[in-house]
Amino acid sequence: GELVVAIDGPSGSGKTSVSRAVAQRLGLQFLDTGAMYRALTWYCLDSGLDLTAATAAGDEKLAADVVEAAVELPLTMHLDPEHETVEVDGQDVTAAIRDPRISGAVSVVATNVAARAVLVERQRRLIEQTGRRVVAEGRDITTVVAPDATARILLTASPEARMGRRGHQLGGTQSRADLHEQVLERDAKDSTVVDFMTAADGVTTVDSTELDFEQTVDAVIDV
Ligand code: CDP
Repeated sequence: GELVVAIDGPSGSGKTSVSRAVAQRLGLQFLDTGAMYRALTWYCLDSGLDLTAATAAGDEKLAADVVEAAVELPLTMHLDPEHETVEVDGQDVTAAIRDPRISGAVSVVATNVAARAVLVERQRRLIEQTGRRVVAEGRDITTVVAPDATARILLTASPEARMGRRGHQLGGTQSRADLHEQVLERDAKDSTVVDFMTAADGVTTVDSTELDFEQTVDAVIDV
């Protein structure tokens, strides 16, 4: 039967790895919507758009170009949790979209309300294409993309725990202070358009601060 699991949360809450593991355990497909915002950012940069925050602020031409890029984005998402891949125009960008260059520019795309609407439509279509058997994770899944999901979860953790996990994921090449600042800045920018820090009505909060990875997966599956 139908089983749509919607998971939202801030950066470093562990939502991507937890969501993938939940999908594997429950035999569901896995949709990482953050990867779609990252793929659109990659495509904009590849098309020569200057997404520097200073340039982008208040630039209506750029905002319109980003929306156009969202509409034409030649994106293929493979939703198998064992080997998800992201392709843009036939090119595998799965690794490239994790580059700090993308993380630094993604907020310009994610705060573009019209571009979001285009991606949200695609996300809803992808969920339907799984036969509604999917774990979908992001910032606005429980509230906008799939408020009708079977289970709706907000995955949180203390800022300290979140920064610790992010630092670990990046392999410690950047200084901790830089990294913390970047993540907090991105969350602050992103939360101007989507509130992913408070659970909406009917959404269950899972706080992973004191839980290890397996315990967090178990807590989500319990919900
Ligand atoms: O690196 P992190 O896990 O925090 O981010 P991500 O899940 O890969 O998402 C990258 C960016 O996409 C976020 O910083 C948000 O700007 C944006 N995003 C969004 O606005 N809405 C979503 N449903 C998912 C991601």
